[in-house]
Amino acid sequence: TRPFQVAIDGPAASGKSTTAKMVAQRLGFDYIDTGAFYRCVTYVALSKGIDPLDPHSSKKISALAEQAEIGLQTIFSREQDTMTNGSQKAATLPTTRVFLDSTDVSSEIRTNRVSQYVSAVAAIGPVREAILQKVRKMGATGDDQGSSSRLGLVMDGRDIGTVVLPQADLKVFLVADSRVRAERRLQELVRNGADPTRDILDAKAVQDDLEKRDEQDRTRKVSPLKKAIDAMELDTSNLTLEGQVEVIVNEVNRRR
Ligand code: C5P
Repeated sequence: TRPFQVAIDGPAASGKSTTAKMVAQRLGFDYIDTGAFYRCVTYVALSKGIDPLDPHSSKKISALAEQAEIGLQTIFSREQDTMTNGSQKAATLPTTRVFLDSTDVSSEIRTNRVSQYVSAVAAIGPVREAILQKVRKMGATGDDQGSSSRLGLVMDGRDIGTVVLPQADLKVFLVADSRVRAERRLQELVRNGADPTRDILDAKAVQDDLEKRDEQDRTRKVSPLKKAIDAMELDTSNLTLEGQVEVIVNEVNRRR
Protein backbone atom coordinates (compact mmCIF):
# COMPACT_ATOMS: atom_id res chain seq x y z
CA THR A 1 0.00 0.00 0.00
CA ARG A 2 1.16 3.53 -0.63
CA PRO A 3 2.24 5.86 2.17
CA PHE A 4 -0.54 7.77 3.95
CA GLN A 5 -1.01 11.16 2.28
CA VAL A 6 -1.92 14.37 4.07
CA ALA A 7 -2.73 17.42 1.91
CA ILE A 8 -2.65 20.82 3.60
CA ASP A 9 -3.83 23.89 1.73
CA GLY A 10 -4.76 27.40 2.68
CA PRO A 11 -4.04 31.09 2.17
CA ALA A 12 -0.70 32.79 2.84
CA ALA A 13 0.60 32.70 6.40
CA SER A 14 -2.23 30.46 7.59
CA GLY A 15 0.39 28.35 9.34
CA LYS A 16 0.46 25.60 6.73
CA SER A 17 4.16 24.91 6.59
CA THR A 18 4.84 25.04 10.32
CA THR A 19 1.80 22.88 11.00
CA ALA A 20 2.69 20.46 8.20
CA LYS A 21 6.28 20.09 9.42
CA MET A 22 5.20 19.44 12.98
CA VAL A 23 2.57 16.92 11.89
CA ALA A 24 5.25 15.15 9.81
CA GLN A 25 7.61 15.16 12.79
CA ARG A 26 5.00 13.76 15.15
CA LEU A 27 4.04 10.97 12.75
CA GLY A 28 7.45 10.25 11.24
CA PHE A 29 6.18 11.25 7.80
CA ASP A 30 8.05 13.03 5.00
CA TYR A 31 7.32 16.69 4.35
CA ILE A 32 7.17 18.52 1.03
CA ASP A 33 6.82 22.30 0.84
CA THR A 34 5.42 22.97 -2.65
CA GLY A 35 5.49 26.77 -2.25
CA ALA A 36 9.30 26.47 -2.21
CA PHE A 37 9.20 25.24 -5.82
CA TYR A 38 7.33 28.32 -7.04
CA ARG A 39 9.61 30.51 -4.95
CA CYS A 40 12.71 28.95 -6.54
CA VAL A 41 11.45 29.61 -10.05
CA THR A 42 10.58 33.20 -9.10
CA TYR A 43 14.01 33.66 -7.58
CA VAL A 44 15.87 32.44 -10.69
CA ALA A 45 13.70 34.56 -12.98
CA LEU A 46 14.36 37.71 -10.92
CA SER A 47 18.06 37.00 -10.67
CA LYS A 48 18.20 36.79 -14.47
CA GLY A 49 16.51 40.17 -14.75
CA ILE A 50 13.27 38.73 -16.10
CA ASP A 51 10.12 40.67 -15.18
CA PRO A 52 7.43 38.16 -14.11
CA LEU A 53 4.70 40.75 -14.65
CA ASP A 54 5.53 41.11 -18.35
CA PRO A 55 3.33 38.65 -20.32
CA HIS A 56 6.21 38.15 -22.78
CA SER A 57 8.24 36.56 -19.96
CA SER A 58 5.97 33.50 -19.62
CA LYS A 59 7.90 31.35 -22.08
CA LYS A 60 11.28 32.12 -20.52
CA ILE A 61 9.99 31.51 -17.02
CA SER A 62 8.36 28.24 -18.06
CA ALA A 63 11.69 27.07 -19.50
CA LEU A 64 13.41 27.97 -16.22
CA ALA A 65 10.77 26.01 -14.31
CA GLU A 66 11.42 22.94 -16.43
CA GLN A 67 15.19 23.16 -16.05
CA ALA A 68 15.33 23.91 -12.32
CA GLU A 69 16.64 21.08 -10.16
CA ILE A 70 14.91 21.58 -6.83
CA GLY A 71 15.74 19.65 -3.71
CA LEU A 72 14.30 19.79 -0.21
CA GLN A 73 15.76 18.54 3.01
CA THR A 74 13.84 18.72 6.25
CA ILE A 75 15.73 18.22 9.48
CA PHE A 76 13.49 16.67 12.07
CA SER A 77 14.29 16.25 15.70
CA ARG A 78 12.58 12.91 15.98
CA GLU A 79 13.47 12.38 19.60
CA GLN A 80 12.92 14.86 22.36
CA ASP A 81 16.26 15.83 23.83
CA THR A 82 16.64 14.73 27.39
CA MET A 83 18.64 17.22 29.40
CA THR A 84 21.22 16.16 31.97
CA ASN A 85 18.79 16.78 34.81
CA GLY A 86 16.33 14.36 33.20
CA SER A 87 13.77 16.93 32.15
CA GLN A 88 12.64 17.07 28.55
CA LYS A 89 13.33 19.95 26.25
CA ALA A 90 10.39 20.69 23.99
CA ALA A 91 10.90 19.22 20.52
CA THR A 92 12.50 21.85 18.30
CA LEU A 93 10.74 23.05 15.18
CA PRO A 94 11.83 21.11 12.09
CA THR A 95 13.62 23.22 9.47
CA THR A 96 13.52 22.78 5.72
CA ARG A 97 16.50 23.63 3.52
CA VAL A 98 15.78 24.34 -0.12
CA PHE A 99 18.32 23.63 -2.85
CA LEU A 100 18.26 25.00 -6.36
CA ASP A 101 20.75 23.32 -8.69
CA SER A 102 22.63 22.18 -5.56
CA THR A 103 22.87 25.69 -4.07
CA ASP A 104 21.18 26.37 -0.75
CA VAL A 105 18.65 29.15 -1.45
CA SER A 106 16.59 28.73 1.72
CA SER A 107 16.76 32.37 2.77
CA GLU A 108 16.95 33.89 -0.74
CA ILE A 109 13.52 32.51 -1.66
CA ARG A 110 11.81 34.07 1.41
CA THR A 111 12.58 37.71 0.65
CA ASN A 112 9.78 40.23 0.15
CA ARG A 113 10.80 40.66 -3.44
CA VAL A 114 10.25 36.97 -4.17
CA SER A 115 6.97 36.98 -2.19
CA GLN A 116 5.69 39.91 -4.21
CA TYR A 117 6.24 38.21 -7.57
CA VAL A 118 5.62 34.55 -6.77
CA SER A 119 1.85 34.63 -7.38
CA ALA A 120 2.39 36.00 -10.89
CA VAL A 121 4.84 33.19 -11.62
CA ALA A 122 2.51 30.58 -10.11
CA ALA A 123 -0.30 31.76 -12.40
CA ILE A 124 1.60 30.69 -15.56
CA GLY A 125 0.08 27.41 -16.78
CA PRO A 126 3.25 25.75 -18.12
CA VAL A 127 5.11 26.69 -14.92
CA ARG A 128 2.45 24.88 -12.91
CA GLU A 129 2.73 21.84 -15.16
CA ALA A 130 6.50 21.68 -14.75
CA ILE A 131 6.24 22.05 -10.98
CA LEU A 132 3.39 19.56 -10.74
CA GLN A 133 5.61 16.90 -12.32
CA LYS A 134 8.53 17.63 -10.02
CA VAL A 135 6.37 17.70 -6.92
CA ARG A 136 4.58 14.45 -7.78
CA LYS A 137 7.90 12.79 -8.48
CA MET A 138 9.28 13.89 -5.14
CA GLY A 139 6.07 12.74 -3.47
CA ALA A 140 6.49 9.31 -5.00
CA THR A 141 10.16 8.87 -4.16
CA GLY A 142 10.51 10.87 -0.97
CA ASP A 143 12.77 13.88 -0.58
CA ASP A 144 16.50 13.46 -0.67
CA GLN A 145 16.83 12.29 2.91
CA GLY A 146 17.51 8.79 1.67
CA SER A 147 16.63 7.26 5.01
CA SER A 148 12.97 7.99 4.46
CA SER A 149 10.78 5.34 6.01
CA ARG A 150 7.94 6.18 3.64
CA LEU A 151 5.35 5.81 6.38
CA GLY A 152 3.51 8.77 5.04
CA LEU A 153 3.73 12.15 3.43
CA VAL A 154 2.57 15.63 4.36
CA MET A 155 2.45 18.15 1.51
CA ASP A 156 1.41 21.76 1.79
CA GLY A 157 0.50 24.40 -0.80
CA ARG A 158 -2.54 25.82 -2.59
CA ASP A 159 -3.68 23.02 -4.89
CA ILE A 160 -2.59 19.86 -3.08
CA GLY A 161 -6.06 18.54 -2.23
CA THR A 162 -7.53 19.65 -5.55
CA VAL A 163 -4.80 18.86 -8.10
CA VAL A 164 -1.53 17.40 -6.78
CA LEU A 165 -2.90 14.67 -4.49
CA PRO A 166 -6.61 14.38 -5.30
CA GLN A 167 -6.63 10.93 -3.64
CA ALA A 168 -5.03 12.13 -0.39
CA ASP A 169 -6.17 10.22 2.70
CA LEU A 170 -6.69 13.42 4.64
CA LYS A 171 -7.20 16.92 3.24
CA VAL A 172 -7.01 19.92 5.51
CA PHE A 173 -7.87 23.48 4.52
CA LEU A 174 -6.38 25.90 7.02
CA VAL A 175 -7.95 29.32 7.39
CA ALA A 176 -7.33 32.20 9.77
CA ASP A 177 -8.38 35.80 10.02
CA SER A 178 -6.03 37.92 7.87
CA ARG A 179 -5.19 40.15 10.85
CA VAL A 180 -4.11 37.11 12.84
CA ARG A 181 -2.10 35.85 9.87
CA ALA A 182 -0.33 39.21 9.47
CA GLU A 183 0.56 39.17 13.18
CA ARG A 184 1.98 35.67 12.89
CA ARG A 185 3.96 36.55 9.77
CA LEU A 186 5.46 39.57 11.57
CA GLN A 187 6.43 37.50 14.59
CA GLU A 188 8.08 34.98 12.29
CA LEU A 189 10.03 37.73 10.54
CA VAL A 190 11.24 39.14 13.83
CA ARG A 191 12.15 35.67 15.12
CA ASN A 192 14.22 35.05 12.03
CA GLY A 193 16.09 38.32 12.44
CA ALA A 194 14.16 40.75 10.28
CA ASP A 195 16.03 43.47 8.42
CA PRO A 196 14.10 46.78 8.61
CA THR A 197 15.77 47.99 5.40
CA ARG A 198 14.49 44.98 3.49
CA ASP A 199 11.46 43.65 5.35
CA ILE A 200 8.08 45.26 5.76
CA LEU A 201 7.56 45.40 9.50
CA ASP A 202 4.23 47.16 9.64
CA ALA A 203 1.22 44.98 10.53
CA LYS A 204 -1.19 46.73 8.17
CA ALA A 205 1.23 46.59 5.24
CA VAL A 206 1.87 42.89 5.86
CA GLN A 207 -1.88 42.27 6.00
CA ASP A 208 -2.42 44.13 2.70
CA ASP A 209 0.36 42.10 1.13
CA LEU A 210 -1.11 38.77 2.25
CA GLU A 211 -4.60 39.73 1.10
CA LYS A 212 -3.27 40.78 -2.29
CA ARG A 213 -1.44 37.48 -2.75
CA ASP A 214 -4.51 35.47 -1.65
CA GLU A 215 -6.68 37.36 -4.10
CA GLN A 216 -4.27 36.55 -6.95
CA ASP A 217 -4.05 32.90 -5.91
CA ARG A 218 -7.86 32.56 -5.61
CA THR A 219 -8.73 34.18 -8.90
CA ARG A 220 -6.13 32.68 -11.24
CA LYS A 221 -7.37 30.42 -14.03
CA VAL A 222 -5.12 27.42 -13.44
CA SER A 223 -5.61 25.47 -10.22
CA PRO A 224 -6.67 28.39 -8.02
CA LEU A 225 -6.50 28.28 -4.24
CA LYS A 226 -9.71 26.48 -3.32
CA LYS A 227 -10.93 24.17 -0.59
CA ALA A 228 -11.36 20.64 -1.96
CA ILE A 229 -14.94 19.43 -1.44
CA ASP A 230 -13.71 16.59 0.76
CA ALA A 231 -11.33 18.75 2.82
CA MET A 232 -11.72 19.38 6.51
CA GLU A 233 -11.68 23.13 7.21
CA LEU A 234 -9.69 24.17 10.24
CA ASP A 235 -9.88 27.77 11.46
CA THR A 236 -6.70 28.43 13.39
CA SER A 237 -7.49 32.02 14.42
CA ASN A 238 -8.04 30.91 17.98
CA LEU A 239 -5.88 27.79 18.06
CA THR A 240 -2.32 27.41 19.22
CA LEU A 241 0.19 25.72 16.95
CA GLU A 242 0.22 22.68 19.24
CA GLY A 243 -3.58 22.68 19.18
CA GLN A 244 -3.87 22.61 15.41
CA VAL A 245 -1.14 19.96 15.12
CA GLU A 246 -3.02 17.82 17.63
CA VAL A 247 -6.28 18.03 15.66
CA ILE A 248 -4.58 16.84 12.46
CA VAL A 249 -2.48 14.12 14.10
CA ASN A 250 -5.60 12.74 15.79
CA GLU A 251 -7.48 12.78 12.51
CA VAL A 252 -4.67 10.88 10.75
CA ASN A 253 -4.59 8.29 13.53
CA ARG A 254 -8.35 7.89 13.34
CA ARG A 255 -8.19 7.22 9.59
CA ARG A 256 -5.20 4.96 9.22
O1 C5P B 1 3.37 28.58 0.55
P1 C5P B 1 4.12 29.80 0.07
O2 C5P B 1 3.64 31.08 0.66
O3 C5P B 1 5.59 29.64 0.15
O4 C5P B 1 3.77 29.85 -1.49
C1 C5P B 1 4.20 30.92 -2.30
C2 C5P B 1 3.29 31.09 -3.51
O5 C5P B 1 3.45 29.97 -4.38
C3 C5P B 1 1.80 31.18 -3.25
O6 C5P B 1 1.38 32.49 -2.95
C4 C5P B 1 1.20 30.69 -4.55
O7 C5P B 1 1.14 31.74 -5.50
C5 C5P B 1 2.22 29.69 -5.03
N1 C5P B 1 1.83 28.31 -4.76
C6 C5P B 1 0.94 27.71 -5.62
N2 C5P B 1 0.62 26.39 -5.46
C7 C5P B 1 1.15 25.67 -4.46
C8 C5P B 1 2.04 26.28 -3.54
C9 C5P B 1 2.36 27.61 -3.70
O8 C5P B 1 0.44 28.35 -6.53
N3 C5P B 1 0.83 24.39 -4.33
